[in-house]
Amino acid sequence: LFDCLAAQTPDPLLSLIGEFARDGRADKLDLSVGVYRDDEGRTPVMQAVKQAEQRLVDGQASKSYLGPDGDRGFAEAITDLVLGAQAGSRARAMQTVGGTGALGLAAGLLAAAGGPRTIWLATPTWSNHVPVFAAAGLAIRTYAHVDPATGGFALDAFLAAAEQAQPGDAFLLQACGHNPTGVDPDPEAWETIGRTLARKRLIPLLDDAYQGFGEGLEEDAQGLRTVLAEVPEALVAVSCNKSFGLYRDRGGALVCCGHDAAALEVAMANARTIARSSYSMPPDHGAAVVRTILEDRALTQLWRDELARMRHRLRATRRALGARLAANDPRLGAIAGQHGMFCLLPIDAAQVARLRSQFAIFIAPDGRVNLAALPLHRVDAFAEALGDVTAR
Ligand code: LMR
Repeated sequence: LFDCLAAQTPDPLLSLIGEFARDGRADKLDLSVGVYRDDEGRTPVMQAVKQAEQRLVDGQASKSYLGPDGDRGFAEAITDLVLGAQAGSRARAMQTVGGTGALGLAAGLLAAAGGPRTIWLATPTWSNHVPVFAAAGLAIRTYAHVDPATGGFALDAFLAAAEQAQPGDAFLLQACGHNPTGVDPDPEAWETIGRTLARKRLIPLLDDAYQGFGEGLEEDAQGLRTVLAEVPEALVAVSCNKSFGLYRDRGGALVCCGHDAAALEVAMANARTIARSSYSMPPDHGAAVVRTILEDRALTQLWRDELARMRHRLRATRRALGARLAANDPRLGAIAGQHGMFCLLPIDAAQVARLRSQFAIFIAPDGRVNLAALPLHRVDAFAEALGDVTAR
């Protein structure tokens, strides 16, 4: 059996976790996988999470199964956080294994609905998007996310793709803090996106992984809510792993939005069937932590304050790096005004490799930089190293 299996190359992003851990250089800097790090390179557990965990340890009376939807209180609380006033009878949610698990269930629903069905991705995009949708057997088509002339969101490319798409095709839209470019649509573009999807009877799949890392929790949800207000049906994949710092605990939810309660129930039943044959029921801890925080006013405030501090630090780093890089290349000054954890540098694979071998700076293979891990006091050194590897 094993002889018949094809060799696999390790995931190029995740393999950097091990490579960085094995690197012995004292001044090494990990700007690759999307985790928040403090000035010492640590990813501390948030205080709100610690306190919620303590309450769970003290109060949890059983570890018996909760059922295929996981933690119902979590699913409702996270739906309120993401959808705001649009939560309620229009939305049904279930807990998933992280944001990737939610995307996987969404992909499974699209495939189960029959086809031929295509999902449209704006590229560049997160390196795991194509594998998730390909694994579900969906056809994948792409269009440009960034307008090369302006460096901003390429609305025209979206509109051209929407014109070519067939009714029932899905469009993956990153809700905020676009991974890897940091380039988000502005409010007017979101309106146009929502109206176009509705007119062409296309299905939005909103990937919401970085809420709170852009302008603020409410602000970062506005684009998603604008689209949801326009369309009759949508899927939302939520990750709690960045905004609650839960990473390895894999907190996430799939939210199905529609106006027909019976059809929504069928959608949820299909999602449960897909989950059952895969992981059966989601692991509890991360979702229980999020629910415990969101159910308690004081813990919610503590979490919001911690998230705001992370966001302000990230934005200060953005501004500093954008200003520093603009001195050499004015186009890179745009980094200062972009959103979320990431920016994408115009550097090739050999230059990425030299950043690592010569300067012990690890970034993603496509030139993506995780700004949430770059301390302010290392911005200059990073810019100098970058200047060195791109000069030749
Ligand atoms: C990232 O993009 O770095 C993170 O979302 C980690 C991952 O799963 O790829």
